[in-house]
Amino acid sequence: MMTLALTSKTHPYKAGFAPFPSEVYRVPFAYCYRCSYSKKYPSCDLYCARHLEDTFKRVVANEEVAAVIAEPVLGEGGFIAPPPDYFEVLVELCHKHGILFIADEVQSGFGRTGALFASQRYGIEPDILVTAKSLGGGLPLAGVTGRAEIMDAPGVGGLGGTFAGNPLSCAAALAVLDLFEREDFLSRADELGDQFQRRSREWQCRWPIIGDVRGLGGMQAIELVQSQDTKVPATEETKKITQYCYEHGLITITAGTYSNVIRVLVPLVITKEQTDEALDVLESGIAEICGKKGAVAQLV
Ligand SMILES: Cc1ncc(COP(=O)(O)O)c(C=O)c1O
Repeated sequence: MMTLALTSKTHPYKAGFAPFPSEVYRVPFAYCYRCSYSKKYPSCDLYCARHLEDTFKRVVANEEVAAVIAEPVLGEGGFIAPPPDYFEVLVELCHKHGILFIADEVQSGFGRTGALFASQRYGIEPDILVTAKSLGGGLPLAGVTGRAEIMDAPGVGGLGGTFAGNPLSCAAALAVLDLFEREDFLSRADELGDQFQRRSREWQCRWPIIGDVRGLGGMQAIELVQSQDTKVPATEETKKITQYCYEHGLITITAGTYSNVIRVLVPLVITKEQTDEALDVLESGIAEICGKKGAVAQLV
């Protein structure tokens, strides 16, 4: 219930499971494309991060807060990568008030953003780092890593579970780490990101449905909207495009509050040719749903 209380995505995760523990508070993220405060970066001076001080006055007292938890790049939330200086401000505020900063890198971890952890790209050192997914290279494994004084606090045997330290999963994770030492996956993530950005920026000029192109390293996404001015989410069209992709051999997964974001988080062993092939299918899907003619007219 505590972890379920943490997610901000109501459907399909939380709806119908209430009541939740009440002492979980949520503050708006640095979602610059749809800023909760109608501001623009960088003139906003990271208002959303600094607004935490206000939250401590109006919502919950700072001394009542044990930890601030954030994904350095939102996963389910729509692949939102905050401005480069956002986390520096946030973490500084946490430490000023003696609050731990926990980075959930379950999606953004293990090279996906061009650094082993996205936190590194933001120049921050979380007090606790949560990892899973790519950590085990496909085998079930999750990790909670933190400074000894934090991790040892529960006492010997205080943290455990049936599958903790599962030997097979741990062997897979060690193999993952070996591969990171042998191969330059971090550069591959950046190359993948560039490849995606080049193609999707072209699409953005051709089809007004592509509202935003964003990401960090190989963690990339497009946000689909009815119009680039109104930014009304194009949820139905997104569903149709993903269905088209599925029927043409490409499995995609949506994200975002309005399920209007198509995300790309492919294994880093993918080749350039395979990526192009996948992007070709996605492009045909957009053309099929949004019309090829309009695209040509827009280009001219
Ligand atoms: C950011 C993030 N954190 C945590 C989780 C949950 O991780 P686990 O399935 O290991 O409990 C997920 C998705 O599964 C996720 O995307």
